[in-house]
Amino acid sequence: MEFKAIIDAKASNAADCAVVGVYEDGDLGAAAARIDKQLDGLIGKLRADGDFSGKLGDVMLLPTPAGTAAARVLLIGLGTRSAFGRKQYRKALGNAVQALAKTGTSDAVVYLALEAVADLDVQYRARAVAEIFCAQLYKIPDLKTSTKPRAPRLSSVSVAVADARGMKSAAEGLRIGAAVGGGLALSRDLANLPPNVCTPTYLGTRAQSLAKDFPSIKTKVLDEKAIKALKMGAFLAVTQGSDQPPRLIVCEYYGAKKSAPPICLVGKGITFDSGGISLKDPPAMDEMKFDMSGGAAVLGTRRAIAELKLPINLVGIVATCENMPSGGAVKPSDIVTTMSGQTVEILNTDAEGRLILCDAITYSRRFKPAAVVDVATLTGACIVALGNHFSGLMSNDEALAEELQSAGIRADDRAWRLPIGEEYVDQLKSNFADIANVGGREGGACTAASFLWKFAKDLQWAHLDVAGTAWLGGSQKGSTGRPVPLLVDFLINRVQAT
Ligand code: BES
Ligand code: MN
Ligand code: ZN
Repeated sequence: MEFKAIIDAKASNAADCAVVGVYEDGDLGAAAARIDKQLDGLIGKLRADGDFSGKLGDVMLLPTPAGTAAARVLLIGLGTRSAFGRKQYRKALGNAVQALAKTGTSDAVVYLALEAVADLDVQYRARAVAEIFCAQLYKIPDLKTSTKPRAPRLSSVSVAVADARGMKSAAEGLRIGAAVGGGLALSRDLANLPPNVCTPTYLGTRAQSLAKDFPSIKTKVLDEKAIKALKMGAFLAVTQGSDQPPRLIVCEYYGAKKSAPPICLVGKGITFDSGGISLKDPPAMDEMKFDMSGGAAVLGTRRAIAELKLPINLVGIVATCENMPSGGAVKPSDIVTTMSGQTVEILNTDAEGRLILCDAITYSRRFKPAAVVDVATLTGACIVALGNHFSGLMSNDEALAEELQSAGIRADDRAWRLPIGEEYVDQLKSNFADIANVGGREGGACTAASFLWKFAKDLQWAHLDVAGTAWLGGSQKGSTGRPVPLLVDFLINRVQAT
């Protein structure tokens, strides 16, 4: 998909489709008024007659006579002016893409970014266009034999802006939006693959090829022997029941001067979580192929950052393995020694995410990071607490938590703060080891995060529990790519802040 910015007044009528916003109240906007004139007042009449009221998200496709506006005009309802904000803007865009995709349009001019939206500058408005077009047009790389994948017809999207000054901001916004879209698609592709294809070895190979596409990323893939040499006893315990060898993927990107401390992103990459000996119930066990979504998000974010050539240092660490039962699998009551030296009594082998992450977080220390953010589909309890709307956000650093939370709001990929603390660590007491890996049903998302906190003490650390947000179930089953948009926004703002 090609995105470009154009100046409104200079927009030609040659496009396949003009996408125009219409409010429920007040005058037509500048672009809509101009096109309305070319169409002899048709838009105004549709609104007056109540055929197209402009209710938020409503769409109507108008074929147009030759020589006017564009080959077609797609009207998008924007709702009332006073209520028009970020959410409404993004919803209008989303519905526009859905409607456009059903037409024969290959090049479209979007006039929606001309609308003033409270607190949103031109760059954001353009960025949202690219982001939402990419995200909505994403197709699962399925393995269906009956249907041949059809190339999307829509190949070019121009965003109209008011003036030359807006052009520059819009172009930058489109560049960011497209990079988020690319990162999101990579993350979704990886997570949507079946676990017999997307193994730890496969993820390692994909990370290597990412490094080839973006030479600014230096990637190391550690095998079992190297993981053993690092004494990652907790990570090794999770993988020991599986026939698939584990991998520790480490990708380093230096966009700033090499001495600047990097941000470390740490991802949970369980390519299938059967629960291990603490076997899960069959319903929805298939969805546990998505248990590597945190790792996929780290790789997707890396891709976006490298594409943007962001002047920041970033280290992505993905601990990836399977969690399987077998004669050699780890058993409830086994005690392991983590890379940090702390011992863990594994009471439930299904609480495996925290085991691989605690070692990956310890590993991140060698980079002397400015901050460590781990991303994991960690607990069913987080879904109970927050549903599918917010990712859980826990942190030992107020400023970092605040940064991540506002990044989530801007990127429309929201996170909600949940507590960690000694109270929860108390639930993890073991009579036999320094700490147990589970702490009862109460506050399950918080005990899991507090377990990680024990390994992140004295780091500036945050944890994103994306169990409820990384994928959708039911008829919509598939990866969402979250929290790639949040993470990319967070990193962009880190650059601007420094
Ligand atoms: N990957 C799961 C968490 C999960 C469950 C994500 C359902 C999305 C949907 C994780 O490894 C897990 O099994 N957690 C257990 C922890 C429990 C044993 C303390 C859980 O949440 O049930
Ligand atoms: Mn599990
Ligand atoms: Zn898991």
